[in-house]
Amino acid sequence: MNVVLTARGEAHAFECSVGENILYAGLRSGLALPYECGTGTCGTCKARLAFGETASAWPEAPGYVGLKPGDILMCQTLAAGDCGVEVNAAVARMPETSSAPAHLGAVIRRRAMLTHDVATLDLDLDEPVDFEAGQFMVMTAPGITGGRAYSMVNYDRWATRLHFVIKEKPGGRFSEWLFGDGVEGTRVHLFGPLGHATFSPDLGKNLVCIAGGSGIAGMMAILSCAGQARYFDEHQGYLFFGVRTGRDLFFADELKALTAKCPEGLHVTIALSDEDVDPAFAAEHPEFAFGKGFVHAVAAASMKGKFGAVRAYAAGPPPMVSATLRMLLIEGKLKSADIRYDKFS
Ligand SMILES: Cc1cc2nc3c(=O)[nH]c(=O)nc-3n(C[C@H](O)[C@H](O)[C@H](O)COP(=O)(O)OP(=O)(O)OC[C@H]3O[C@@H](n4cnc5c(N)ncnc54)[C@H](O)[C@@H]3O)c2cc1C
Ligand code: FES
Repeated sequence: MNVVLTARGEAHAFECSVGENILYAGLRSGLALPYECGTGTCGTCKARLAFGETASAWPEAPGYVGLKPGDILMCQTLAAGDCGVEVNAAVARMPETSSAPAHLGAVIRRRAMLTHDVATLDLDLDEPVDFEAGQFMVMTAPGITGGRAYSMVNYDRWATRLHFVIKEKPGGRFSEWLFGDGVEGTRVHLFGPLGHATFSPDLGKNLVCIAGGSGIAGMMAILSCAGQARYFDEHQGYLFFGVRTGRDLFFADELKALTAKCPEGLHVTIALSDEDVDPAFAAEHPEFAFGKGFVHAVAAASMKGKFGAVRAYAAGPPPMVSATLRMLLIEGKLKSADIRYDKFS
């Protein structure tokens, strides 16, 4: 099917396959279309149907709330024939890079529990993929409607294996399936890499990474990329990792390995929201600082006076990310251009 997308009076044409949504087809063709979640919740990919027949893959998607009749979510809209859509934003062509989004096949090779409700997932790709530190893939599995976004934990150029960290959501269809039996060996479909919360070593600013729970995933990739480039020889990095209790902490060994490589430049603070910091527990992890409270509040207190020349990243549950964004804008006085985030909605 042929899609004509008009943005601020400029028309762009691209092919959309049967069963493919308009957002993914447009991104695949090289257009920098507006999106955030890629999975129907945020509403950022809003457009207006100008002509043609379309169908929604998920008519109940939360992203439709507040849209007018005739508006569509490009990430949920399947073309039933040639069609035209209008986007109320300038749409440029993405620079030619090795990390253009594409459809990919993969096999779930290994799942390992990290805590009672968090697991790592390793996927072997049919072909190598290049991506930027902090990006995510949208994963689709047999028998489950719709895709789910998961951020890569590893950062390797032309990776053949991707690592993810998944938190089990009670009643969640995809995450409960991932925590069930017989997952290893399953073939899944991926679309990506996606996401704007990315890091590149030519940034030239100090890093503040604020993660809630599995929001640590993309931060691990960012810190790994920065470590490989010896970024913390020249710049400071501050990671704030929020978990409920000491029992919920994971990636402690991986974080210790990262700090060991740059002890002067990378500082890790663990924020416990639901219990006081047990001195014995803190003594087990002398490489980390500890704080009691929500991670955005612990970060605000620790970063007082250190927000100059900073790029901040936030990822995790939507209320945690919203509170963090308010803190960064109001207390940190950061400009929105210096903040990147992923809401795990
Ligand atoms: C950018 C981004 C990165 C993320 N990274 C991670 C990560 O690294 N680790 C992690 O644990 N979680 C991550 N998440 C959250 C993750 O994508 C899932 O929302 C979470 O695992 C819960 O999925 P579920 O199926 O268990 O829950 P459900 O409540 O069943 O589904 C949750 C989400 O799945 C999609 N969905 C549900 N039903 C349908 C349907 N019928 N059709 C189409 N789509 C549907 C929607 O996006 C919905 O919000 C991320 C989210 C985003 C947006
Ligand atoms: S990108 Fe389509 S709703 Fe978020």
